[in-house]
Amino acid sequence: MPLHNINPSTTKAWKKLASHFKEMNSFSLKEAFKENPNRAKYFSIAFNDLLLDFSKNRVTQKTIDLLVELANEVQLNDAIDRYFSGDIINETENRAVLHTALRSNSENELLVNGKNIKPEIRKALRKIRAFSNKVISGDWKGYTGKKITDIVNIGIGGSDLGPDMIVEALQYYKNHLTTHFVSNIDGDHVSEVLKKLNPETTLFVIVSKTFTTQETITNANTIKNWFLTSGSQFDIAKHFVAVSTNSDAIDAFGIDPKNVFPMWNWVGGRFSLWSAVGLSISLSVGFEHYKALLDGAEKMDLHFKESSFNENIPVILALLSIWYNNFYNAESEAILPYTQYLTKLAPYLQQAIMESNGKSVDRNGTPVNYQTGTIVWGSTGTNMQHAFMQLVHQGTKLIPSDFIGYETSLYGLCDHHQKLMANYNAQMDALAFGKSKEDVHLELKTSGEGSAINKLLPYKVFEGNRPSNAILFKKLTPESLGELIAMYEHKIFVQGVVWNIFSYDQFGVELGKELAKKLLNKE
Ligand code: F6P
Repeated sequence: MPLHNINPSTTKAWKKLASHFKEMNSFSLKEAFKENPNRAKYFSIAFNDLLLDFSKNRVTQKTIDLLVELANEVQLNDAIDRYFSGDIINETENRAVLHTALRSNSENELLVNGKNIKPEIRKALRKIRAFSNKVISGDWKGYTGKKITDIVNIGIGGSDLGPDMIVEALQYYKNHLTTHFVSNIDGDHVSEVLKKLNPETTLFVIVSKTFTTQETITNANTIKNWFLTSGSQFDIAKHFVAVSTNSDAIDAFGIDPKNVFPMWNWVGGRFSLWSAVGLSISLSVGFEHYKALLDGAEKMDLHFKESSFNENIPVILALLSIWYNNFYNAESEAILPYTQYLTKLAPYLQQAIMESNGKSVDRNGTPVNYQTGTIVWGSTGTNMQHAFMQLVHQGTKLIPSDFIGYETSLYGLCDHHQKLMANYNAQMDALAFGKSKEDVHLELKTSGEGSAINKLLPYKVFEGNRPSNAILFKKLTPESLGELIAMYEHKIFVQGVVWNIFSYDQFGVELGKELAKKLLNKE
C-alpha cells in the first residue's frame, strides 16, 4: 500500500499550530527555565545510552501536543508500519524502502514482490564477514603474494559518503589497513591517491548501485589502467571487488563474479551503508564492529517503531524541525558534533536529508504550498566556535542546532574532555539565554570600560532565545554511531510523511548529469 496523501497545511493541527505560533511570539527560554527549573528533565527523552534534551527549544507542552496531533492527522503511525513492512512507499520508483531490514536481527520473514529478503541479507552479511576476515588476517593475497595494506573505495554520493563518514568516525576502532576514498571525477584527486599506493598490496572496492555513474566508472577505469601497468588482466580478480546490482556491467569491467557483493533496489543509495556498500567499513574496523554498528541502528529502529510519539526521539526531532521550518521560516539547521571523529557527519547528512526532502511536488503531483526540506550544514565543536558561530549567536537568521556530545572521551584525556564538554554546554546556554543589555552594561562598567558603554553596548548584547537540541551519548562506539545515524534516517522519514512528499527518489540530480553528457558529446 502507498502512503496516505494528506496536505499537512489543510489539517486542523496545522491551523492550530499557526495560531499557537502567534501566542508563542512572547515566549522566552530564559523565562521558561525560570518558571520551571525542571524544564530540562521534563523535555528530554532517555533511550539506551542516549539522552535527547530538547528543553532549549521554543516550545511549551501545548506546542508538543499540537505537533503530535499533526503527526496523528497525517497518519504517521500507519506510514511507519508501511515503511518497515516493505510497502511500495517509494512510489515514483516503484520500490520498497527497506534499509531497516539490513540491520534487523528478527527471524520474521519480510516479503518484497512475494519473496522473503531475509535469507539474502544474511547471506550477504556472511560474505562480508568472510571476505573482511580474509583480507584483515592477511590470508587474502595480492598478485605477488603480499598481504593487502590499503583499501580504496571507489564510489560517489551514497556509495561514498556513508562509508567515508563511518570509517573516519570509527578510527579509534580500526585495524592496520589504510582506507582511502575516491569519489570526485577530478583526476588530480585520483592521481594524488594513486601516488600513495602500491598496486601489489592495494584492494579496490568499486561501489555503484547502478554501475553506470560517470564519476565512478571513469575513476574505476583510470585506476584499472594504472593497475594494469604493473599487474595483468588475470590479476584483477585479486585486487578489484564490486558492490552493485548491475552484474552485466561488472562482468564487462572484468571483475570475478565471486568478488561481487549484492545491492538491492529496495535500498536507496543514501541509506545503503548498512548493506555491502559498507564493505570498506567492515574491512577497516572488522566485521564485529561493523555488526555492532548495525545492531545500534536496529535499537533505534525498534525505539522509533515502538515508542509513543511524545517519547520518540526521531519523531520529536522531526516535529521540532517542522515547527521551525514551517512556522518560524527557519531555512537551515546546523549539525554540530563535539568530537573530531564526526568531521564528515554534516556532508553525509547533507545528502541524506537534502536529497531526500528537497522536493517541491507533493504526493498528489501538485506543487506544495508550504516549505519542505531544510538546508543542513555544520562542523565540529570547538572549531566551529571560531568560525561560523558568530552568525548563529548574533546574526539575523534563526538556526536551530543539534549539538551532539559524548560523556566520555575514548583516550581518556580528561582535561581536554572537560573543556570540550564545557564548551558544548556553554554554547547551548549562550544561544538560549543570551546576555541582556543590563548585564552588558554592568560588565562594561565593572571592567572599567564605562566610557564606551554607549558605543559598545548594542554589539555586545546577545538576544538569546535561539533553539538547540542536546544529543548526548555516553561514548562514541560503533553501536552508538549506528543509533545516531538511524535516528536521523527516521527523522527524514517523518518529515517526508508530514510534508506529503516522496523522500526516496532523487530526480533532481538527473538534469545536470544529462546536460553534462550532452556537452561532452558536443566536444
Ligand atoms: O547523486 C545521485 C545518486 O543517484 C545518489 O543517490 C547515489 O547515492 C549516487 O548517485 C551514486 O549512485 P551509484 O551508487 O548508482 O553509483
